[in-house]
Amino acid sequence: MWFGLKTGSSFLSTIYLSGYPYKFFLLLSSFNKGGLASAPPHYPNYDHQSFSFSCGDLAHAMPWALSIYPLLRKTILVVSGSVKQRMDPTKISLRPFKLSDVDDFMVWASDDRVTHSLRWNTFASKEHALNYIKQVVIPHPWRRSICLNDRSIGYVSVKPESGDGTCRAHIGYALAVEYWGQGITTIALKMALSSVFKEMPYLVRVQAFVEVENKASQRVLEKVGFLREGLLRKYGFNKGEIKDLIIYSFLSTDPLLN
Ligand SMILES: CC(C)(COP(=O)(O)OP(=O)(O)OC[C@H]1O[C@@H](n2cnc3c(N)ncnc32)[C@H](O)[C@@H]1OP(=O)(O)O)[C@@H](O)C(=O)NCCC(=O)NCCS
Repeated sequence: MWFGLKTGSSFLSTIYLSGYPYKFFLLLSSFNKGGLASAPPHYPNYDHQSFSFSCGDLAHAMPWALSIYPLLRKTILVVSGSVKQRMDPTKISLRPFKLSDVDDFMVWASDDRVTHSLRWNTFASKEHALNYIKQVVIPHPWRRSICLNDRSIGYVSVKPESGDGTCRAHIGYALAVEYWGQGITTIALKMALSSVFKEMPYLVRVQAFVEVENKASQRVLEKVGFLREGLLRKYGFNKGEIKDLIIYSFLSTDPLLN
């Protein structure tokens, strides 16, 4: 048995217990401020529960976690945390969109937090969404609904370029906020890559462009096995602003990571 600590952004940390990562928040409270820190905004799905010492392996982790207390000057470690849920991959499927997905589609496509980094704008009405599904989504060469128990909770699309660029395709994806942080997009991208290289034998490269600030998306691509190729400075507009983008690629010969 071994322990390790990886500190991430804000108050998120990972405790590795016997090699298995248990994610939970070490919520730190300043003596001065007294109040509890809140969960980072990119983890809205974290289920905050009080730590329970009857909670198996976490109970073993807690004494160690508490032992780092002296290192955290003027802060106290405490009190509340949550176990990060990991999605069972067998519950996730990809399938073409249907018009009847519109209500589920609206849940995430009408959310600015989801569309913020995407090229398309937040949907304001069901009617607009229905037209979009009919005219853009369904005719798309390869756009799939990420489904949980066959309900649409996001999308992944792979669009081959034309002419001399047919050997490469652009990948895009998004997920309903409620499900962020459970590994679902990573699962979905692996499924998508496994399919597209079989369905489009002429395809040798799938590439993604990610805004520098979009750390979650970069992490997803790295977990899947994409190679970070570089920074494209002032590459293109998104929502009226010229952005630096990071380019990633995955070749048909690259292995998907475990
Ligand atoms: C990007 C997005 C698809 C990720 O979906 P997801 O299902 O939450 O992704 P996963 O759970 O598979 O992986 C997310 C990883 O990012 C990490 N992460 C999240 N926020 C992070 C941050 N601010 N800094 C560093 N890592 C972060 C998570 O810890 C997780 O890594 P881990 O498994 O090692 O802990 C989702 O956030 C989303 O829909 N965003 C809006 C749309 C979007 O940005 N699309 C991509 C455009 S390029």
